[in-house]
Amino acid sequence: MNLAIFASGNGSNFAALVKAVEEKKIKAKFVVLVSDKPEAFVVERARKAKIAVILVKREDFVSRADFEAAIIQRLKNYKIDLIALAGFMRMLSPGFVKLYRKRIINIHPSLLPAFKGAHAIKDAIDAKVSFTGVTVHFVDNQMDHGPVILQKQIKIKRTDTLNALEKRIHALEHKLYPQAIKIIS
Ligand code: GAR
Repeated sequence: MNLAIFASGNGSNFAALVKAVEEKKIKAKFVVLVSDKPEAFVVERARKAKIAVILVKREDFVSRADFEAAIIQRLKNYKIDLIALAGFMRMLSPGFVKLYRKRIINIHPSLLPAFKGAHAIKDAIDAKVSFTGVTVHFVDNQMDHGPVILQKQIKIKRTDTLNALEKRIHALEHKLYPQAIKIIS
């Protein structure tokens, strides 16, 4: 299975997936990283791991349609079986989702449908809920939404700081994402 990762940030999930492939925990081949942020650490991680990188900045295009057309055009050089979003902080259009129907998955740091969006971990702490978690799901036309593949909860301790909870959530993400890919591959 040929895997493309879309990411905009640190890339700890990207690194966890690279490791899972190297350790043969998932039967996949990393073919390309797509990033909208040339300065993101994930780009450096991909270069170190000798994985091809497609950089496409949204600001370089007039419309989202043009931006996505550029990604699609460049992805044609690879035979992609699965796109895994790993901190890719952009909504994909219905047209893009349709093109890769049932082949785009996302990881999100909450028990969806609770706490969608870019600040899910902080939002869970602020809401004073006792549990949050991690969800891996197929992508549909709504943000952080679509059929769930795997979901696991984490208890929020009364003493938790944002930093402490983030660490536990990320550690769980790094285990769950490879497991979810294994389930669907
Ligand atoms: C991860 O926690 C991921 O779940 C989240 O971005 C982070 C990326 O971290 N995604 C979302 O919030 C999607 N709505 P990483 O760059 O270290 O993998």
